[in-house]
Amino acid sequence: DNDRMNIAIDGPAGAGKSTVARKVAEQLGYVYIDTGAMYRAVTLCAQRAGVSAEQPDKLDQLARSLQIEIEPGEHGQSVFINGEEVTSLIRSREVTLQVSHFAANETVREVLGTMQRQLAARKGVVMDGRDIGSHVLPDAELKIFLTASVKERAMRRFREIADSQIITLEQLETEIAERDRLDEQRDISPLVCASDAVVLDSTGMTIDEVIQAIVKLSRTKMAEAK
Ligand code: CDP
Ligand code: CDP
Repeated sequence: DNDRMNIAIDGPAGAGKSTVARKVAEQLGYVYIDTGAMYRAVTLCAQRAGVSAEQPDKLDQLARSLQIEIEPGEHGQSVFINGEEVTSLIRSREVTLQVSHFAANETVREVLGTMQRQLAARKGVVMDGRDIGSHVLPDAELKIFLTASVKERAMRRFREIADSQIITLEQLETEIAERDRLDEQRDISPLVCASDAVVLDSTGMTIDEVIQAIVKLSRTKMAEAK
């Protein structure tokens, strides 16, 4: 229907995008789409096939032949490659460490960008990523650039994984900073704050505070549009 809009949430790793985007979507009755999961799925597939990011021809072919399916659900989104569910496999450290290299590939970005636009075509979507407001959905009615200090982002991730993986806070911070650098410096649709995005620095904010801030912005936008 005509009342629905699209919301783009971009920002660096660990800013809270997926946590917040999922809840915002829930509150508005919208569909949440995690585009990072798609880049992770391509990465997992390439790793399994023994294709590296330095083999553009093979990677092109792989990206074009891949069947990626995204199934939005109540507790987040499930991801399938060629029919196999990979929702948790794509969260591995191996994938996390490599994903930015694969995400720099032009064909990969083209294929996934096209899918993302199709998913948002009927509006009512909250999509999070790196280039959603700047590139994938330049006409999104509301664009948020969600960020936080790298220390806080590393700490948030540390709290998440410290029980299950042996890694220091310093190591995490270095890895996050490196991934941000790669995402910001790539040639094709890098991580950038769109000129018409609202910048939200969530350092020191709770998850609920961030959710409420975005829901409020979206209600203002909706009222303006009427
Ligand atoms: O959740 P986390 O911050 O760890 O990352 P993610 O959202 O799952 O994204 C993983 C990686 O995919 C990012 O570091 C980017 O390299 C890439 N990505 C991208 O290039 N463009 C997007 N729209 C989303 C993710
Ligand atoms: O998707 P992105 O990489 O931007 O971040 P996330 O995976 O949504 O959030 C990373 C971690 O930070 C999660 O464990 C969230 O619960 C936590 N978080 C937080 O502590 N405070 C916030 N204001 C936002 C997220």
